[in-house]
Amino acid sequence: MSTIAIIGAMDEEVANIASALSDITVTEEAGVSVTRGTIETNKGTRVNVAATVGGMGTVNIAATTQHLIDADQPDAVIFSGIAGNLNTHLHINDVVLGGTLRYLDTDMRLVGQWKPGTADQPVEEFHSDDRLIEVADKVLTDLSVHHITGIIATGNYFVDDPKKVEQVIRETGADAVEMEGAAVAHVAARNGLPVLVIRALSDNADTDYVEFKEFDISEYADTAAKIAVNIVKRM
Ligand code: ADE
Repeated sequence: MSTIAIIGAMDEEVANIASALSDITVTEEAGVSVTRGTIETNKGTRVNVAATVGGMGTVNIAATTQHLIDADQPDAVIFSGIAGNLNTHLHINDVVLGGTLRYLDTDMRLVGQWKPGTADQPVEEFHSDDRLIEVADKVLTDLSVHHITGIIATGNYFVDDPKKVEQVIRETGADAVEMEGAAVAHVAARNGLPVLVIRALSDNADTDYVEFKEFDISEYADTAAKIAVNIVKRM
């Protein structure tokens, strides 16, 4: 039976994934609460899912991703969550699939060199798995969710003013900005695993985080979670 790790940064991003599981167990490990269970596929087989809230930012999510990979040996890793919109053709609750994931404020000449013997060929960016993107694209089309496969920028700060937006777009060409995607894809790449980053747009990167924190993001988090669950059902 195949196993999929599904990770979010915040409670709202994982709530609907955990509630789609049967045969649930919940354990506290490595500083996170991991919900394990199964999802029945459309073919009638079952897939194991390990779902967890990793916390915000690249370090929290990298540690969580590596923990789930070690503990569950998944066949693929899916990140499901929300992001700030940077693309004028997109709107709140549209979805960006992370075809390309780029860090903000990170010198990839140094950080992209993790494989022994490949020091002079550092990785500059990360990519979601083509097959997972294809399945996600079909799920989104069937659910009539407006979406693109685009560039996602990842940094350890909330983007909430026009100057930062302009800088992120200039440096990365991104369609959406968030705080974890590239780190999840980075850890998956180190482990040779396929990854998919799904982001539903929750804001236009123009809202101060203190205000944003008061918003109910569950509608957008649920959009991404529904896609993740439906992808697993098509496995
Ligand atoms: N996640 C959701 N919105 C975001 C934003 N504006 N900046 C960074 N991460 C986000």
